[in-house]
Amino acid sequence: LQPKPLRGKRVLITAGPTAEPIDPVRVLTNHSSGKMGYAIARAAHEAGAEVTLVSGPTALVAPRGVLRLDVDTAEHMLAQVLAEVARNDVFIAVAAVADWRIKHVSPSKLKKNGDASMTLEFELNPDILATVAALPNAPYCVGFAAETDDMERHAAEKRVRKQVPLLVGNIAQQSFGADESVLTLFDEQGGHPLPRLPKLAGARQLIAQIAQRLPR
Ligand code: C5P
Repeated sequence: LQPKPLRGKRVLITAGPTAEPIDPVRVLTNHSSGKMGYAIARAAHEAGAEVTLVSGPTALVAPRGVLRLDVDTAEHMLAQVLAEVARNDVFIAVAAVADWRIKHVSPSKLKKNGDASMTLEFELNPDILATVAALPNAPYCVGFAAETDDMERHAAEKRVRKQVPLLVGNIAQQSFGADESVLTLFDEQGGHPLPRLPKLAGARQLIAQIAQRLPR
């Protein structure tokens, strides 16, 4: 029998990329397969939680027993998260959210005018994780940081900046689209590396760590 350390808990997870429209046929997006977030959703469900997965566009099928809500833009993801968050005990932000959106989305397809270059104006998207972490009665918040260099320093800084008790660092070059994860957990005590594992096994370890840290 599997242990069910999250029995009676509700877990909200974001996963996948977001897609910000440029015009009706083009989007601005991030590299993200969604595999890590979906593996975490599955592991949380196995651990007995009621799981809601707010997902950007991916090619993946929702794990059995997990409620999946599809979104496209960061603003849509934030709205869906805010609509769900109050009933949840844990929020795990795994999505690779586009930091910027296009300021003026063209209602019709942008045409090549013979110009060699073209300029788009961006505006900052909301930070979903920081917004949730700042809510009164915020759930236990877990963030992710995919870094290309100096992962330890960036991840530890990000945990403090976003004011979350737990932040999971990984090295972007090792994780994008891969089937294995190399995760390091950062809490107020410092960094705790997990072994290199298939993403589902890594997700199970992460869920076990989160369950241990929840207020009783
Ligand atoms: O700042 P950065 O994008 O590196 O932070 C990554 C963490 O913050 C991830 O947990 C990601 O899901 C979350 N995030 C978010 N909303 C954003 C940007 C990042 O929830 N706009």
